[in-house]
Formats: sequence, C-alpha cells, structure tokens
Amino acid sequence: MALSVSRKIYREILNERVFSTPLLIARHCFSSAQTAPNIPHSAKKGRLLTGATIGLVIVGGTYVYTVDEATFCGWLFSATKLVNPFFALLDPEVAHRLAVSAAARGWIPREKRPDPSNIGLEVWGRKFSNPIGLAAGFDKNAEAVDGLLGLGFGFVEVGSVTPVPQEGNPKPRIFRLPEGALINRCGFNGEGVVAVAKRLDAQHGKRKLDETSRNPSSSTDEAKHRGKAGPGILGVNLGKNKTSEDAAADYVQGVHTLSQYADYLVINVSSPNTPGLRMLQGRKQLEDLVKKVQAARDEMQWGKEGPPPLLVKIAPDLSKEDLEDIAAVALALCLDGLIISNTTVSRPDPVSKNPVAREVGGLSGKPLFNLSTNILKEMYVLTKGKIPLIGCGGVSSGGDAYQKIRAGATLVQLYTAFGYGGPALIPQIKAELAECLERDGFKFITEAVGVDCR
Ligand SMILES: Cc1cc2nc3c(=O)[nH]c(=O)nc-3n(C[C@H](O)[C@H](O)[C@H](O)COP(=O)(O)O)c2cc1C
Repeated sequence: MALSVSRKIYREILNERVFSTPLLIARHCFSSAQTAPNIPHSAKKGRLLTGATIGLVIVGGTYVYTVDEATFCGWLFSATKLVNPFFALLDPEVAHRLAVSAAARGWIPREKRPDPSNIGLEVWGRKFSNPIGLAAGFDKNAEAVDGLLGLGFGFVEVGSVTPVPQEGNPKPRIFRLPEGALINRCGFNGEGVVAVAKRLDAQHGKRKLDETSRNPSSSTDEAKHRGKAGPGILGVNLGKNKTSEDAAADYVQGVHTLSQYADYLVINVSSPNTPGLRMLQGRKQLEDLVKKVQAARDEMQWGKEGPPPLLVKIAPDLSKEDLEDIAAVALALCLDGLIISNTTVSRPDPVSKNPVAREVGGLSGKPLFNLSTNILKEMYVLTKGKIPLIGCGGVSSGGDAYQKIRAGATLVQLYTAFGYGGPALIPQIKAELAECLERDGFKFITEAVGVDCR
C-alpha cells in the first residue's frame, strides 16, 4: 500500500498537479527577469533555490517513477531501518504497541517481490512460500494479521489467546538486553477468544476469498501471486487463564471459538509467566490434555480439507527425560507438530552478567539460540523426523534459520530479532537462507531438514 501511495504521489508530481507548477514558476521567473530588472538580490536567490528544489523533486520523481516495482519495494524495506533507532528510545512495550498499530493500519511496506523458489515448501497439505514465520506474542489479539503477512512472513501465529480477557502482569514487564535479547513476564495479557474471533471473522471473509493456500492445484491469478502479498498461513496459539483451575477446559474453549480461523492450532504449555503452565508438559498431563483438545477439534464439523493441524509448543528448559516423554506422547497421539521453543527461565552467558538478567521472566533472542537449537535436535532424533518441528529461539539471520532447519526444523519462527531489526530483516533472512541452501547444494529446503542429526 505504501508503495502504491508513493507511486501515486510521484505520478501526480509528474503528470498532473505539481508538474505544471514549476513551469509556471519558471515562466514567471523568466518573464519577470526580463520585465523587472530591479528585483532585489535576496529575492532572486530565493527563486533560484525554489527552482532548484522543484527541479530536484522532478528529477528524483522521474527516476523513482521509472524504477521497477521490486527495486522500489527494496528501498521501502531498507528505509524502515531509519525508524529503528527511534523505536529503541521508547519503552519496549510502547514500541511494540506502536509497531502493532502501524502494521494494523498498513503503515508498513508490503512485500511485492516473489520469494526465492528454493525456500517454498508444503507442510500439512498447505503451501508455504517461505518457512519464516512470526512467533506468538507479537500480535496477541490478531490486530495486524494482514499487515504482518504482507511483510513477507511465510506464516504468522497470533496469540496466546485465553478464554477470558486478562490484563497480564503489572508493567514494566518487558526488558531489553544489549545482547539482542528480551526478558518478558507479560503473563498472557490479551483481549480473550471472543474479541479475537470477531477480528478474525472479519479477516476470514477476506482470507476465504483466496483459497489458494489451501488448494495448491489452483491456477487462478491469486495463486500466481501467492508468495508475494498473498493471504499466507495463520496459526492460532491458545493459552489458559491465570486463575483457571481446569486448563483443558480453557484450551477446549479456545478450540471451539477459534479453530475455524486457523491454518494450524497451538497448545501453548510452555510460557514461564503463568503459574503451573509448564507442568502440563509432564507425560500424563500432556497426554490427557492433547486427547481432550483433539477430541474437541474432531467433534466439530469440518469440510473436506479436515480440521486444522494441532501442535504443542514446548519450553527449552526440559530434561532429557521430559523430552522423551513429550516425544512419546507426540508419536502415540499423532500430534501434527511441535514448536521448539518458548522463552527460557535460564540466563545463559553472556546475559547472566547483566543486572537486567535478574528480572523475572522468559529470556528470548540471541542468547536463546544454542539452547533451543540443541533441544530441537534432540527432539528431531526422538521423534525420528516423523513430526514437523517449528524451530524458534534466537533466530536473527538467514544463517540462523538454516541452522535450525539443519537441526530438524521444517519451519522457523522468530520474534525478538524482528522487534530489533524491523521489516527489513525479513527479506534479508529469506535471501540469506536461499543462499545457504544453494551454497550447500540443496535444491529444495526439505532436503536440508535434519541433516545435522543424521
Ligand atoms: C514479549 C513477548 C511475548 C511473548 N508472548 C508469547 C505468547 O503469548 N505465547 C507464546 O507461545 N509465546 C510467546 N512468546 C515467545 C515467542 O513466541 C518465542 O517463542 C520466543 O520469544 C523465542 O523466540 P525469539 O528468540 O525469536 O524471540 C513471547 C515472547 C516475547 C518476547
């Protein structure tokens, strides 16, 4: 949208409104120079300056008008880097609020360039134009799905959404660390399932217009444009209310209210800021929970495409035994996937030396990369590569995304690095990932999944 607005302005400059103005001014300058030779020196200088400025605008405008859409799009994405220092000055939660509002209003660039062909893939029968997704927590209330997908993410996960609206923990509750990290103890602040369902309902109408992401054989115009600013894939991440005593009932309510809008569903049992939540990762608890949620989902009326896949998001702070239990449940109950991982309660070096590291909450960003990638590898081995895994934690470059894929991830997510790097990071990661695959001789991304575990 920003692109088309800018181009429209330049078109107007060139064709209609402004183009005539400098001509008039030039004519005026010329004729007045002949008929009124006694103009003061300062006025002449002023006219010269105005003429030069208008000339520059015309030349610049003409140049922009003639460049192709892809180049212009690249400029817009690069230009967003100029805003990053301003955001860094703001309180993290205020900066986040601003970013979500801007994305909701379409005040961010829209990706018009097709993704590199070697990073597209199909998972759960759905086409992903690239494997880079936005992790849960950024758009908790599904306010900016279209804008965020338009940035070029292969998929966007909203939530965590709880049945009843919650304020979350007292502020401040998000802290920046200079190591490219964050600590947060938000505690599932959100508007609740009903508000999110209403919002998705409005958007779902739009999403429904384009069935291409669900129907790979479609050859409509929209299908051809998939992977640019297409509708993309939407994940819905479900949480539980802080005071709720029946966790399963909370997730089931989430399924009943939101699953019709989701391309995939996530049971989040790994946020460290809701007391008792991580206990649900235990073998027996997880088994009971997944069975109830699967039953709730399967009881609903689904069209020929069937119900949305169900995934579980786990913590990076699990023992080998915990991981074995989760893998056993995932395989036995035919879970559709696992997201590895959420934030960590540990404080790996070099963060541990920072006084901010004493803040209570989950650590995300670069210092989480090794921990979450190691867990990912272990889980890939334990599940024998049979279940799609989404690698999440500390991804801030195409090289990081590639490492996650080699460690067993079919798809990759990020949050913190996007917060620091802004929109320009997304095309950069995709281009770097495509280069990594090409460098190592992988024609398709799927060939690289788990190669470091074999
Ligand atoms: C401020 C903040 C809020 C988050 N909220 C959620 C959430 O509601 N649900 C969830 O599953 N994960 C949440 N996460 C975790 C992220 O989805 C992700 O798993 C984690 O940050 C690791 O990825 P990263 O290092 O790329 O940020 C949140 C993370 C941050 C920084």
